[in-house]
Amino acid sequence: MAFDFITEQLKNQRSLFRYRERVCIKTNNRSSTDNNDTTSEPYIDVAGKQYLNFSSNDYLGLNHHPNINQAMQEGIDKFGLSASSSSLITGFNYAHQALEEVICQWLNKPNCLLFSSGFSANMAAFQALGQDQSTNFFLDKLSHASMLDGAYASKATVKRFAHNDLTHLSQLMKKNTAQNLLIASEGVFSMDGDQAKLLALAQLSKKHNAWLYLDDAHSVGVIGEKGQGSASKIASNITMATFGKAIATSGAFLACDAPLHDYLINFARHYIYSTAISPALAWATKRSIELIQQAQWRRDKISELTHLLTELLDPKINIIASQSAIQSIIVGDEKKTIQISETLKKQGLWLTAIRPPTVAVGSSRLRVTVCANHNHKQINQLASCLNKALD
Ligand SMILES: Cc1ncc(COP(=O)(O)O)c(C=O)c1O
Repeated sequence: MAFDFITEQLKNQRSLFRYRERVCIKTNNRSSTDNNDTTSEPYIDVAGKQYLNFSSNDYLGLNHHPNINQAMQEGIDKFGLSASSSSLITGFNYAHQALEEVICQWLNKPNCLLFSSGFSANMAAFQALGQDQSTNFFLDKLSHASMLDGAYASKATVKRFAHNDLTHLSQLMKKNTAQNLLIASEGVFSMDGDQAKLLALAQLSKKHNAWLYLDDAHSVGVIGEKGQGSASKIASNITMATFGKAIATSGAFLACDAPLHDYLINFARHYIYSTAISPALAWATKRSIELIQQAQWRRDKISELTHLLTELLDPKINIIASQSAIQSIIVGDEKKTIQISETLKKQGLWLTAIRPPTVAVGSSRLRVTVCANHNHKQINQLASCLNKALD
């Protein structure tokens, strides 16, 4: 029968404990006050039960922030909810331009381009840059699916270096004779939470006259004195970040120099053939970035709470050391990871089990995100439940 593989592959997923399902979440829109500012409460309702959420990417607790909601409403009134066209037709408007300017100032980059998602921004950039075989991409092994898909969809040669292994990267680069070289990495790795070796990557790219591409999806908002992510440490050639995590809206940007910006406008298919992001959303995103730059207390709180969590966890627990909001606990086996996640749910804690192919086989995990809207009591509760569940 046609498309037989569909039922077969679903059956296979189930037997491997890798079957994925959505759960319908009712977000709790209660907020509280912290540091004289408003912060959302980290609870979700699923099937009538309330859970303390440790799987959200709302790292700074900005979702539901009244100023961002107000900017959204203002944006709707001033510019409309829909761009009604792609950016190159009549979809690019004042709200988009104002957001691009704020991002350029924040990251100290000359130009910036908005996309409807981080996935499309990465796809667009890699496809457009890998226009022929004179280009070689070097990607960290743990790079996000969208970078890999974009790289493999391009005509460039793709090489992957072992995670954060600069010696391996250096060996791969030495053998290389292509004209255009690009090293790509995440700033903070989405599933491990560790950081790229930014200074070493910058040095190596300089040595080989290669460009450096950083996917800062999990760094922006969280790292740097103004939350500017990796840009607080080094200057990359291209920075991509999404709005759907710490910035608490939706969409993404690519920040780069003027020639690349103009090239992407002319050749990036995901930019050209797609409706521009909602102008109201762009306006709300601008407001969020302005708040983020001032809200150092949110970044400090994440550091304080992650420190507390690692202190409280049993030293036997296999946690990946990280300075970011992402604290990954490796369990290994898919079935066991699901069981622990279910045990925690019964205790009112939401921690999604992350399994292959999102992570390597044998490294299924509980990916804890510690956010600025958590408090000491909640971290204590999490640590005590994890210590028991992983005993
Ligand atoms: C590292 C990384 N890059 C890109 C993306 C895609 O961004 P978006 O959700 O905006 O499509 C994600 C996550 O979703 C991510 O974790």
